[in-house]
Amino acid sequence: MGNNEKRNTFKGSLGFVLAAAGSAVGLGNIWRFPYLATKDGGGMFLAVYLILALTFGFTLLMAETAVGRKTKQSPLTAYGALNKKWRHLGILACIIPAMILPYYCAIGGWVLKYLLGYVTLNGGAAAQDGYFNTFISGTAEPIVMTLIFLAAVIFVVIRGVNKGIESFSKILMPILLVLVIVIAVFSITLDHTDNGVTRTGMEGLAIYLIPDFSGFTLEKFMTVLIDAMGQLFFSLSVAMGIMITYGSYVRDDANLNSSVNQIEIFDTAVAFLAGVMVIPAVYVFSGKEGMSASGPGLMFVSLPKVFDKMGTVGEIIGALFFAMVFFAALTSAISIMEAVVSSLMDKFGFGRTKSAVIVSAVTAVLAVIVCLGYNALYFEVTLPNGSTAQILDIMDYLSNNILMPIVAIGTCILIGWAVKPETVIDEVEKTGTKMGRKGLFTVMIKFLAPVMLIVLLLRSLGVF
Ligand code: ALA
Repeated sequence: MGNNEKRNTFKGSLGFVLAAAGSAVGLGNIWRFPYLATKDGGGMFLAVYLILALTFGFTLLMAETAVGRKTKQSPLTAYGALNKKWRHLGILACIIPAMILPYYCAIGGWVLKYLLGYVTLNGGAAAQDGYFNTFISGTAEPIVMTLIFLAAVIFVVIRGVNKGIESFSKILMPILLVLVIVIAVFSITLDHTDNGVTRTGMEGLAIYLIPDFSGFTLEKFMTVLIDAMGQLFFSLSVAMGIMITYGSYVRDDANLNSSVNQIEIFDTAVAFLAGVMVIPAVYVFSGKEGMSASGPGLMFVSLPKVFDKMGTVGEIIGALFFAMVFFAALTSAISIMEAVVSSLMDKFGFGRTKSAVIVSAVTAVLAVIVCLGYNALYFEVTLPNGSTAQILDIMDYLSNNILMPIVAIGTCILIGWAVKPETVIDEVEKTGTKMGRKGLFTVMIKFLAPVMLIVLLLRSLGVF
């Protein structure tokens, strides 16, 4: 569709950086990063993650934003615009956000429920045993919360690139950053005495930062490497069509090089600070044993217990925390929906509203099915990676562990070998600025990243 002439663009680099950071900073940063950091030896995970962010993450992020800006297309058509033979990769890259959006909205609905609980000073109820499971296995409430969250996402997406995505990101992201910093500082100043033993936030911080090499083996190092790579992927919103879409809204005179650096820094800083928020607080009130919970268990079960033990101040911190998670989830969900909405607009020439209505209707149906996965449609399966799964986990596994590595491998081969890395380098440098880490980018996209991604995919498939 020839809508390039009238394609909207972000008004400025700040709008792009905050929108992309809004997409990147999401549930992945807040509930998965602290868990992986604790599981994988604290500082060791942080060091591996940082090195990967500056090499592997940078390469994929740079490639996708440059492809978006060069083609002025969203994922469904961008790959084909670059090279006709690769148009099928676009279909896959568009299916991924369509698959993630329903379960992301379901979790967004859970966050909304907790936020409302804390704002109405009923946060204590969330600390009771069984509260979370009773809530998600309910019939109406999880569905209502999910649909309200989805409605908020639709509202912003329908307003469009400038009045919706850019404006909301400019408001929500600075607030989010302030909340993260305030809660993180609060967390390290905590202390609590239990059975005569006093634990402090600073001790918790030390557990987070100091590498734990006990029982260190090559096998363990591989696990850290693969965990960090999988996390980075989801966290930077690459391989899910989003950065191509947002890249397609970047003005031709904007400096892609510095924007990509700023997005990387923002996302990594918030992930790091999420650990500072969560780990010392959980350690102070629940000890080392309390730190083994992951995903929903950490955010919806362990943390409410921690807030409860803080007394009245816990209600306020709980409200601030869930407000922050809500903003993080909302700006990410907006980007996930935009990747699909924009794809339909580019491919079929639909208007924004029509495209958003179609995507919303399909998402609403799938999101209700995800919610019912804990109720009428409950079942358990064991995934190839060994974890037990319901509908939500299956959709997460298929998108995150299988399809995303496949799309990323395809992207590396397309850029590294079919159209050559210079396509990206020229796009970045067309404004007259030098692209940093150029040599690294070339080696990564041609050789290292595809090999690392194949290892990640095989691991996800349970091959080793
Ligand atoms: N990048 C987003 C997250 O971390 C999708 O949740």
